[in-house]
Amino acid sequence: MFQAIPTPKGDPILSLITEFRNDPRDQKIDLGIGVYKDDHGITPVMQAVTLAEQVLLNANGTKSYQGLTGDEQYNESITQLLLSGTSALDRCATLQTPGASGALRMLADLIADTAPNSTVWISNPSYVNHRPIMEKAGLTVKEYSYLDAQTKAVDEDAMLAQFAALGSNDVVLLHGCCHNPSGADMSLEAWQKIAELANKQGFLPFIDIAYQGLGDGLEEDTKGLHIIANQVDEFVISTSCSKNFGLYRERTGAALIVSNTLTAAMNSRAKMCELARGSYSMPPAHGAAVVDTILRDDNLNAIWRKELTAMNTRVNGLRAALVQEFQAATQSNRFDYFGEHKGMFTLTCISNEHIAQLKEQFGIYIVGGGRINVAGLNQSQVKPLVEAFVSIGA
Ligand code: LMR
Repeated sequence: MFQAIPTPKGDPILSLITEFRNDPRDQKIDLGIGVYKDDHGITPVMQAVTLAEQVLLNANGTKSYQGLTGDEQYNESITQLLLSGTSALDRCATLQTPGASGALRMLADLIADTAPNSTVWISNPSYVNHRPIMEKAGLTVKEYSYLDAQTKAVDEDAMLAQFAALGSNDVVLLHGCCHNPSGADMSLEAWQKIAELANKQGFLPFIDIAYQGLGDGLEEDTKGLHIIANQVDEFVISTSCSKNFGLYRERTGAALIVSNTLTAAMNSRAKMCELARGSYSMPPAHGAAVVDTILRDDNLNAIWRKELTAMNTRVNGLRAALVQEFQAATQSNRFDYFGEHKGMFTLTCISNEHIAQLKEQFGIYIVGGGRINVAGLNQSQVKPLVEAFVSIGA
């Protein structure tokens, strides 16, 4: 049966993990997968997580099944974290999922099941897994203009002009904050226009927010989302606790459906449960229990917020150092965009040849398209990175 399967190409981000691991050079730098590292190159378990795990251990819980919706307490906590203070709260239903990828897939399956002729519009560029997930669910995928490759900022006029031509068969996949891969976020004015266009044209906003708290702060990073939540009747959200709780391998995410009525949202969630039963059945419990424990405990919550702020301060310090080092090395402001971008990533738009040169000559690993995971860098690597860029003329 399986003899005819050709060797698959491999995921463009995940394959870098193995390549980097197998590289024997001491000075190699991993700026590939979106994982936060501290100044010692370690991805730490957050203190709040360790403390919450201790609470869970002492509670002597059970490992019995939780059911298709996952941990309902976690579902409530994560909904509050995303939508607190908005009018969407009382018409929202939340499903715990295996990471945000699981949420993207469940929502895509739901859309494909309900409205199979939908077209999902993803940004150009977008997270490398957006297109495959949507297409594997059977949906048509098209791209909307997003990044201006020259300025490395969002071309909002071009984007909004495309949205103005969409209709009720369209789904617009937006990045809630910290755009992956570019780091370029749109303005709140653009979010406002998107809310108006969604109401006028009838398209469904689909907000993927995998980096809440890694841009301007936990509350600040939901400002765009809240504009949609307060003005648009129906929209969906996928979210992740991989980055902001550092729970990557625990696969902790959620899919949220907001509809005109709570009944419609709950029915949609029940449909997703049916679809999940046909694949992974139930989400893993541990990460969700950790997140819920942190969010329900004032002390743990405060510790977690402080740690998140420290992570942001470190990344912003690296961004400032990159800007300064590039200015000194190039006598230009060509790389100032590093200081304007939000979250873990910056898209440099350098050529494939330059990306290969960085890897082969310097052991610097970055994702195709030129995405740099700034959060994977440390201060001592800033200068070598800038020198490598300059020496190959990138
Ligand atoms: C990334 O973009 O590097 C992360 O979201 C990891 C992943 O699952 O692709």
